[in-house]
Amino acid sequence: MYVAMLLFRVLHIFAGVMWVGGVMMIAFFIQPAVRGTGPAGGQVMGYLLTKTPIAAYFPAVAGINVLAGLFLFWRNVSAGGHWAGTRAGMTISMGAAAAVIGFIIGGAMIGRSMGEIAKVLSVAQGAGGPPQGEAAAKMAAAQARILLGTKIVLPLLVIAVITMAIGRYM
Ligand code: HEM
Repeated sequence: MYVAMLLFRVLHIFAGVMWVGGVMMIAFFIQPAVRGTGPAGGQVMGYLLTKTPIAAYFPAVAGINVLAGLFLFWRNVSAGGHWAGTRAGMTISMGAAAAVIGFIIGGAMIGRSMGEIAKVLSVAQGAGGPPQGEAAAKMAAAQARILLGTKIVLPLLVIAVITMAIGRYM
């Protein structure tokens, strides 16, 4: 169990770093750059969504973080001593809840919209040009959902990081 705990802690924290770091990079650098560079930005977004595994990256790292976190949670709760009712347990539980809500909203708003944009772009690329008319409107709506989703998910992940960082000392 000790080795399993060490392994799940490494998986949990590594995946958490990759998840939060990735969302921050998108929110503070990639989204502003894509929005600020017009058609060129659209091409970069298109390449990211159709030629790189970015749409699989976030469900993978977030999923590993949450699953490993659930294991750590179970380990602490099943160790007795009413861990979940302690200040440390309640603090980490709050962060865990924020991260799980972020995971669900991220999947529903960001993940699904990325998939929609990738579909629109691959059809447009097949037709030899940028999306037009209804397809362009669909892409713009999906981009707006990604932007809104990022604005909701990022604060939730920040809450998770802060509570995880201070939890054991409460
Ligand atoms: C953005 C997401 C998250 C990040 C960055 C993160 C990060 C961390 C870090 C750095 C620790 C170590 C704290 C320490 O030992 O002082 C930790 C511990 C813990 N995390 Fe998370 N976490 C996240 C989400 C979650 C989720 C979703 C769960 C549960 C479903 C969870 C459950 C736990 C538990 C139970 C511990 C205590 C482990 C122990 O006692 O050894 N975390 N987390």
